[in-house]
Amino acid sequence: SSAIYQGTFVHCRRLGELEILKNHVICVNEQGYISDVLLGSSAEASRLVQNSDATITKLEDGAFFVPTFCDLHLHAPQFLYQGTGLHLPLMKWLDEYAFKSEEQLDNDSLLAERVYNKLAHRLLESGTGAVSLFGTLNIKTNLILAKVMQHAGLRAFVGKLSMDMSSRPTYKEDSALASLSSVEEFIQQTRDFLSQYPPHLRLVEPIITPRFVPTCSNDLLHSLGDLAQSQSVRVQSHLAEAREEVEWVKSERQLDDIVVFEQSNLLSSQTIQAHCTFLHGTELEKMATYGSSVAHCPLSNCYFSEKPFPLREALSRGVKVGLGTDIAGGYSVDIMNSMRQAVSVSRMREGLRTVEAEIGGVSQHQGHQPLSINWKEALYLATRGGALAMDLPKIGSFEVGQAFDAQSISVYTADGTGVGAIDIFDNPGGITEELVEKWWCMGDGRNRLSVWVQGKRVR
Ligand code: GUN
Ligand code: FE
Repeated sequence: SSAIYQGTFVHCRRLGELEILKNHVICVNEQGYISDVLLGSSAEASRLVQNSDATITKLEDGAFFVPTFCDLHLHAPQFLYQGTGLHLPLMKWLDEYAFKSEEQLDNDSLLAERVYNKLAHRLLESGTGAVSLFGTLNIKTNLILAKVMQHAGLRAFVGKLSMDMSSRPTYKEDSALASLSSVEEFIQQTRDFLSQYPPHLRLVEPIITPRFVPTCSNDLLHSLGDLAQSQSVRVQSHLAEAREEVEWVKSERQLDDIVVFEQSNLLSSQTIQAHCTFLHGTELEKMATYGSSVAHCPLSNCYFSEKPFPLREALSRGVKVGLGTDIAGGYSVDIMNSMRQAVSVSRMREGLRTVEAEIGGVSQHQGHQPLSINWKEALYLATRGGALAMDLPKIGSFEVGQAFDAQSISVYTADGTGVGAIDIFDNPGGITEELVEKWWCMGDGRNRLSVWVQGKRVR
């Protein structure tokens, strides 16, 4: 049935903008879409609240609604060994941990189901409502993943991995052709499974997932590009992640990996590329021209990439950017950590620019945009920006016509003290920008009351 939500709503409709809608009423229809956003004191709102048989959820002064988070990059099978072996460089880590764990789940459906159920639970606990997932090679294991996500009520793109080359002989597909037909079959089986649900409740979508250039032959990449176009399926991969990977592609294919993707028709407005750490100005412009998105994973960059992603340069060129956790190249499933890390590394970039200008004896160039981003910009990237980067324009902010994908957050109690790790010594009497910032800095799962996806309460 329809529902009414009352209280304070916080969202970022544009980069750097934070809007606090105090005392508002939001009506959500049976399909989970927002039908009205009204001032609580308006006659229309009172009429709706009094005469409706909708279920009413009212938040107290010390709480607010905020859109769910979007995680643009997560390896579901690697959740098995989250927080392990991060002292190794990328290629070695893939060989020693990633491929093994993925193979293990492909050989043990019960284990896969346990890992994926726990992952879904942790995502909702962390306020993530939409996620783009890398899976494994085996169709069956990916169907388990798709079903677990759909049943948990999470919006998820599920990527059956494609790879016909590997450092692990037992973990790859036999040929480009075999790889292509297995992904075609996965897409068909996922669509068959989803057809039992009405369109607005089909939360899961298949996504074409060439792992990265070093594990995919040119034949495979080309056929995946054709498949993506002919069936209009989304695409995700890793691009310009680490020096050793960039150099490998350059020496084996004589091209930069962005050109390899481009030539295979794998850059489009439905493409999400993880990392993009080593892209330069003109390459960022290419991403903007194709409308392809970047999944920025700042923690993973610290381990595998040597340097941070040029976030400000990407944003100012109009590249669509969202945040990712990159489990298990990053160890935290919580997008709040990705937001904080994105700000931290961007501040170091800005600081280093100043320091280097001083060391070089050059006075700092005046009037340029700071390389750092602030917490409001990070909140946008985690919500509305992430949604747009996932090409999910229907979520990420509170507006008529949007799906109600939201979380409720409690920051202080009636006696004016804080909740969880947030300490408050002065009752502010309502949600202020300072309080939202405190939540952004210190908040955790203790502050999260509930989570909704497509109007349905999922936690
Ligand atoms: N590049 C190719 N595969 C992977 C992976 O599993 N994790 C990360 N971080 N990078 C990759
Ligand atoms: Fe990754």
